[in-house]
Amino acid sequence: MQSARTIFSPAKNDGGARTTEAVRPFVHVLADSSDKLAGVCSALERQFTVAGERLDAEARLSQVPFAVVIRAELRDVGTIAAIKKRAGKLAKATKRIFLVEHSSHVGISQAYALGATLVLPGALNKSKLLAALADPAEPTSTASSDAPQPDDAVETAATAIASMFTAVTLGEPLDVDGTKEAGRRIADRITEHGLSEWLATVRRHHEGTYQHCLLVTGVAIDFGLSLGVGRTDLERLYSAAMFHDIGKAQIPLAILDKPGRLDTDERAMIEKHPAAGYEFLKDHEKISPEILDAVRHHHEYLDGSGYPDALCGESINDIVRILTISDIFAALIEHRHYKPMMPRTEAYNILCGMTGKLEKALVTSFKEVALTR
Ligand SMILES: [Fe+2]
Ligand SMILES: [Fe+2]
Repeated sequence: MQSARTIFSPAKNDGGARTTEAVRPFVHVLADSSDKLAGVCSALERQFTVAGERLDAEARLSQVPFAVVIRAELRDVGTIAAIKKRAGKLAKATKRIFLVEHSSHVGISQAYALGATLVLPGALNKSKLLAALADPAEPTSTASSDAPQPDDAVETAATAIASMFTAVTLGEPLDVDGTKEAGRRIADRITEHGLSEWLATVRRHHEGTYQHCLLVTGVAIDFGLSLGVGRTDLERLYSAAMFHDIGKAQIPLAILDKPGRLDTDERAMIEKHPAAGYEFLKDHEKISPEILDAVRHHHEYLDGSGYPDALCGESINDIVRILTISDIFAALIEHRHYKPMMPRTEAYNILCGMTGKLEKALVTSFKEVALTR
């Protein structure tokens, strides 16, 4: 019979490298079975000081780890309860990486709802996990302090986006107010700390579609602030940005997160997301026509080459134009652990090259947001 309390002591074998235990970052591993625990621990032991603990054991962690890696079946209520029980301690780790075996929006959003800073779906992939752990994190984490967590707005927003995707996937009601409130908190945060700080924090903590939505929202807010839009338009802008890719909830993650080029069928599936998003939201009383318009048309171009309605020129509204520029820019500068980040200057140059598609005056106004704010 398996012991319910499997505690791995810090690794003794450093593979011959003369690295001392003292300088190796401490990683805490949690799993719902001894096999999974052993798999993750052995993947990390050469580079980290590792302590492992089964989720069904009494929580024992006393030292604050640099990172927590959790590999468990998140559809199990007992597992969720066990993770929640450790929430306070987990929150102190700079990185909380969830290895989710079932690659679905529900599994991934569940992980974010439980506080993941990064989710790696699919079978255990040692090199991906090591790359994620080696990714630069903040040099000095303030996480162990009892002061309010600096990433509160990020975590709230990531959770709002995660629950939005889950709701759509499961056909449950959307928390529109909660999502807008998360957008408002991003606006507060950016007003106070600036866009660069937001971009750095989000890129450090999240990946894939959620990171994208958080980046677009931040960029759109800062663009709106720089243009001096009024409060009502700013609200429309951040709400539209939070919801803009909600139609992606029906696209398999294998396509959404595919690193390489998409084939024709995959591209066709991706291009359905603005209309799908519009369909999800259109009957919701709290979603205004302006937000609906932006969700449906954020991939339209002034020259009529966009989708889904091939709109051109004047039929594309200002909020939509601002969102489209923010969306393209955010997509270019997003961070994936498998590729280098595109510098903001290079991303802005790409926007400048999209002659005829984007409003020239707006792209010019965007320069300050793109490069300096
Ligand atoms: Fe989109
Ligand atoms: Fe987008």
